[in-house]
Amino acid sequence: MNISIIGSGYVGLVTGVCFAELGNKVICVDCDVKKISHLKKGIVPIYEPGLEELIKLNLKNKRLKFTSSIRAAVKASSVIFIAVGTPALENGEADLTGIENVARSIAQNMDGYRLIVEKSTVPVETCAWLKKTIVTYIKKSLKFDVVSNPEFLREGSAINDFTHPDRIVLGVESAKAKQMMTNLYKPLNRPILITNIKSAELIKHASNAFLATKISFINAIARICDKVGADVLEVAQGMGLDNRIGRYFLHAGIGYGGSCFPKDLEAFINIAEKLGYDFAILKAVKNTNEEQKKFILQKIKDELWIIKDKTIAVAGLAFKPNTDDLRNSPSIDLIRALIQEGAKVKVYDPKAMNKARACLSNVVFCNDLYEAAKAADCLVVATEWNEFKELDFVKLKKILKRPLLIDGRNIYDPKLLKALGFTYVGVGRGNA
Ligand code: UGA
Repeated sequence: MNISIIGSGYVGLVTGVCFAELGNKVICVDCDVKKISHLKKGIVPIYEPGLEELIKLNLKNKRLKFTSSIRAAVKASSVIFIAVGTPALENGEADLTGIENVARSIAQNMDGYRLIVEKSTVPVETCAWLKKTIVTYIKKSLKFDVVSNPEFLREGSAINDFTHPDRIVLGVESAKAKQMMTNLYKPLNRPILITNIKSAELIKHASNAFLATKISFINAIARICDKVGADVLEVAQGMGLDNRIGRYFLHAGIGYGGSCFPKDLEAFINIAEKLGYDFAILKAVKNTNEEQKKFILQKIKDELWIIKDKTIAVAGLAFKPNTDDLRNSPSIDLIRALIQEGAKVKVYDPKAMNKARACLSNVVFCNDLYEAAKAADCLVVATEWNEFKELDFVKLKKILKRPLLIDGRNIYDPKLLKALGFTYVGVGRGNA
């Protein structure tokens, strides 16, 4: 099929390159001219495992093209995905200006039937507005269909998530749209759920909100574990073995971050409010997450007493491993709080150093975890990168000023570290 993807952010790029890899002809569009000129040369603005290689491969075999012209893309494609950003407005509502602008441009450049697929995370009823906008600006009485096809890929494992999704959700209104979309996804051979458009839109927000709820729930359990000396890893394992609960997304830590959960939760609370429903559960999930971020600072204070003039090493800046994304990263919030308290902060991340240089000041940027830990009063591991999981603890103990390890992601064995002479502080590991 000839496909266009409008918006070359995380979702747009991954979707575009994966559809190209499946044998379609794909045009990725973005209004950022510099980004497009880089992408044409195979220079990718984000770190996502496997993405750059796939882009280069599909550029070479001419299945993938980049352009800033929506016009050219609309003319050349039968299926048009909208994957532009929907950032949060100050009141938490999603800003849908980008979607409206794109809808208008698509309508003005259509010259025949087009299938327009909403991929960005949007409030329920956005597709209805999309349809109205297209009808308003369409030149002749051309035919078109609108589909809601929410994306569930995670940063850091985006390609695999796209090619092996648990389910593909298609919110459709016509037999033609259903046929075209199922044909497009057929090569993935994964379960396809056909729903009405509003249900599909809601599935996305409901799924992210539920996952965030699981995380805040286990973080709340971790607080109780700390108080009574239980181990949250054991509690999560015991809960997760119940198939009704499931073992995923029960890792306690320093709180969830990223560009999705915080924004989507806020937007969903806002949508509910507009519909006259007070989504109290989600408000509690959000507050629990904010508390969790503050709690890790308190744990450091509990060990070091005064933070001012202490040297703190923070390993891991990205909001999760295998990405260089710093958006809403709990690690960055912690670093800012430490600086505010007057600490000297040394930082290291395997992939996010360049982005960190642009957003952090008054910190020492180090080349590896050991350089950061040298002469530090404490080492905080804030992101569970694989390279942090296997450390030379003997070396680490020698170079730290005091052997204090704050394990913000529960990746170490407390018994082992204590035996090696460390003061180990995890999240809900029974440090009461
Ligand atoms: C999330 C969803 O998992 C995707 O399904 C969805 O497509 C995406 O948002 C989106 O809406 O675009 P993402 O934010 O990339 O994906 O990453 P996750 O792996 O979900 O992690 C989010 C945050 O939760 C991270 O800060 C992570 O450290 C934290 N987390 C996750 C925990 O603290 N504990 C867990 O058990 C799992």
